Amino acid sequence: MQQKWTPSGWRARPAKHVPTDYPDAAHLARVEEALKSYPPLVFAGEARNLKARLAEVAGGKAFLLQGGDCAESFKEFHPNNIRDTFRALMQMSVVLTFAGAKPVVKVARMAGQFGKPRSDVTETRDGVTLPSYRGDNINGMEFTPEARIPDPERLFKAYGQSAATLNLIRAFAAGGYADLHNVHRWTLDFVAGSPQSRRYEELANRITEALDFMAACGITPETAPQMKQVDVYTSHEALLLGFEEAMTRVDSTSGDWYDTSAHFVWIGDRTRQLDGAHIEFARGIKNPIGMKCGPTLEPDDLLRLIDVLNPENDPGRLTLITRFGSDKAAACLPQLVRAVAREGRAVVWSCDPMHGNTLKTQGGYKTRPFERILSEVRTFMEALPAEGAYPGGVHVEMTGAQVTECLGGAQEITEENLSDRYHTHCDPRLNGQQAVDLAFLIAEHLRGVRSSEKQAAAE
Ligand code: PEP
Ligand code: CO
Repeated sequence: MQQKWTPSGWRARPAKHVPTDYPDAAHLARVEEALKSYPPLVFAGEARNLKARLAEVAGGKAFLLQGGDCAESFKEFHPNNIRDTFRALMQMSVVLTFAGAKPVVKVARMAGQFGKPRSDVTETRDGVTLPSYRGDNINGMEFTPEARIPDPERLFKAYGQSAATLNLIRAFAAGGYADLHNVHRWTLDFVAGSPQSRRYEELANRITEALDFMAACGITPETAPQMKQVDVYTSHEALLLGFEEAMTRVDSTSGDWYDTSAHFVWIGDRTRQLDGAHIEFARGIKNPIGMKCGPTLEPDDLLRLIDVLNPENDPGRLTLITRFGSDKAAACLPQLVRAVAREGRAVVWSCDPMHGNTLKTQGGYKTRPFERILSEVRTFMEALPAEGAYPGGVHVEMTGAQVTECLGGAQEITEENLSDRYHTHCDPRLNGQQAVDLAFLIAEHLRGVRSSEKQAAAE
């Protein structure tokens, strides 16, 4: 039997990557107390809707697209950045919906994605060693001793930025900006400007034809509101548990606890210890949750974690986000999928092709080759069906801006180009074009799968 759960129960467990070096613990406690009376960022009913959508993904009837910044920052906070990332997500979503002929559940890695687990606790530059940067909600990125001191006041600023970001996302989603015709127009512009335009044209033209056909049948944004409105959910890693605890409230409708900082939160690969604070926190909230699965995760441990996180085997509750690296995925993934399938556990499988594919260039830039990202997605798309499971989604670090952080893609970004617009506060992101490129390439794969399914049905 599990012990009774409370939002603060995690405090009795070892908590990796939660800072303990705030100079004034009483100050932190005061900030957390104040946040407890701040309005929730999301409503529990919305989190339940997302869970129902994810249950469709678990059942193979929809596809999950999750994407956004590695780390949001105070410096990059600007309506244009929010708009551009939103826009790239919508474009990816339309391409994937068409190719897979399934609804795409859209989850932004935005409006709260601040705290970062860091592999190294310190950073050394020119012989000077300072504590690592841990995300704008904890300390500052500048390489000075003052900036690197954790400051509780940053939590208020992160809350405010999350609220404003979410407000704009909601406005775009409901207010007509995400109208299917708009999104498709952006995609046609993208195709026209892409070095791969010939390759993408066919699919884009078929979407145009489908929209024209629908319009001829009288299905337009005026007659069918679902063509001009979308549901977009928010998500982040539930890393900084003091903040998550402060945002966790009892839902008056159901009497259950919900973490109202986002619709969906996940546990990182570095904080998924069975007896650790993050698992303890996550087990008690009713939001749909995710857990990253990296190369060190053994099948038996995964099953034990699923027992704790989803004891009722509730579809949509748990998304397993795999991130092995293109060189390890083929060896690591099948045994996990097999174990979960054998035990009949209902989960969503989603592929994060970013975090296992990071490397450092000779020039000192952290980057990710587009080819490896695509290769890990392909391995995922093939390995899951081979084990009788459904490849349910992708999780990417991306931005709508034209940064130069990942190598390759149709624009063929080279090591020399990386310094042009390398803006990330943490890991390298796909830029807007690379993100849509990836969607088109996944789309080619999905269409291949569909045509072989049709062929098999006809035989
Ligand atoms: C992340 O998603 O930014 C992250 C740190 O991932 P992981 O836990 O998979 O390393
Ligand atoms: Co990252």
